[in-house]
Amino acid sequence: MPGTPWSHRMGLTIPIVNAPMGGVAGGRLAAAVSAAGGLGMIGMGSSGSVAALEYELTQLEPVPAMFGIGLVAWVVEREPVLLDAALAARPALVSVGFTEDWSWVGRVHAAGIPAVAQVYDGDHARRAAAAGVDVLVARGREGGGHGDPRLGTLAVLDAVLEAVRVPVLAAGGIATARGLAAALAAGAAGAWLGTCLSVCPEALTPEPARAALLRAHATDTVLTRVFDLGQRLPWPDRYPARVLANETTRCWAGREGELSLDDAARDEVAAAAATGDPRQAPVDAGEGVGALTRSRPADEVVTELYREAARLLQRQPGGTDTGTAPGSGADESRFGAGNSESGHEQGSRA
Ligand SMILES: Cc1cc2nc3c(=O)[nH]c(=O)nc-3n(C[C@H](O)[C@H](O)[C@H](O)COP(=O)(O)O)c2cc1C
Repeated sequence: MPGTPWSHRMGLTIPIVNAPMGGVAGGRLAAAVSAAGGLGMIGMGSSGSVAALEYELTQLEPVPAMFGIGLVAWVVEREPVLLDAALAARPALVSVGFTEDWSWVGRVHAAGIPAVAQVYDGDHARRAAAAGVDVLVARGREGGGHGDPRLGTLAVLDAVLEAVRVPVLAAGGIATARGLAAALAAGAAGAWLGTCLSVCPEALTPEPARAALLRAHATDTVLTRVFDLGQRLPWPDRYPARVLANETTRCWAGREGELSLDDAARDEVAAAAATGDPRQAPVDAGEGVGALTRSRPADEVVTELYREAARLLQRQPGGTDTGTAPGSGADESRFGAGNSESGHEQGSRA
C-alpha cells in the first residue's frame, strides 16, 4: 500500500488529511475525503456548537470507517460540552487549535483517541509533544484561515521534524502535487490541506465565496485581524487570518490598532462581514489559491494530488524519471520518515 509509515498505521491509502475548516469542512467533505483513502475532518470554527457538530455528524455520508474532528480552543472554553460531544462521536483524531493550554490532551486520551495540534516552530512542537500530542501539524504562514505566521511552511516543517519524533503533517499553501511531493520528500508523514478542498462541491463554502476563490490569484491573499476585531471574536493577536484581500481588508490595512479603538468602525466591519459578499466579507484562503481553477469532487482532488505527487517523487532531482512505475509504492514507504518517527514512537497512539 503506498503512503508513509504514519498513513499505513492509520490505515489510509492517501497521506492527506482535510483540515478542520469551520463553516467549510462539514460531514460531506469529511466523508468524501475518507472514502477516497485520506482522512476527512469535520471543523467547528468560531461559530462551532454542539448542535452544529451533531448536524454535521449526520452528514457523514457514506459513513466513513474513520474521520476526525477539529475544534477551536476559545470556542471550547465558551462551550466545554463541545469537546464531550466530539469525543462521544468516536473520531479517529481530535484537534483543538490555537492554545497552549494542553489540558484537552488528557481528556482526548482518556477517551482513547489520538490528539493532533497545529504548531508553528520547533519549541512549540517540543511543548506539544511533551504534553502528549500524538500527531503534530507544522503549519506555515502561507496557510488559509487563522495561524501564527512567523515561519513559512518549509521552514516550520524542517524545524518541527528536527525537534520531535512524533509524526508531523505539513500544512500551509499546499494545493498542488508539487507542493505535496515537496512536503513528503522533506519528511512529512502527510499533508493537512485546507484551501484546495474548500472549493470542492462537498464543502459548505457558500457559492459567492467559492467563485471568488476560483477567480483568485496566488498573490490575492492577505494576513489580517480586521474581521476578528470587527466581529469582536476573541482570537488571540498571535493568530491573524489569511483571507482573500478585498475592500474591507484594504480599507483597514495597517490601521488595525485604530480599528480596535473605534466601536462604530468595528460595527461597520461586522456588518460588511455579515453580507457574505466576498468584496467585503472574509473568505479564508491560503497562498495555494491561485492553483484552483474549478470545483472538482474531493475524491478526484486527493486521488490526483497523491498520484501525481508519487510520480514526481520517483524522479531524480532536476526532473529525470527513474523508470519506477508511478504510484507503485515501491519507494514510497520511505517518505514521511524524515524525523525517524517510525523508529521512535512505540507506544504512540496514532
Ligand atoms: C476556510 C478555512 C477555515 C479554517 N478553519 C479552521 C478551523 O476551524 N480550525 C482550525 O484548526 N484550522 C482552521 N483553518 C486552518 C487549517 O487548519 C489549515 O491550517 C490551513 O487550511 C492550511 O493551509 P491551506 O489552507 O493553505 O491548505 C481553516 C482554514 C481555511 C482555509
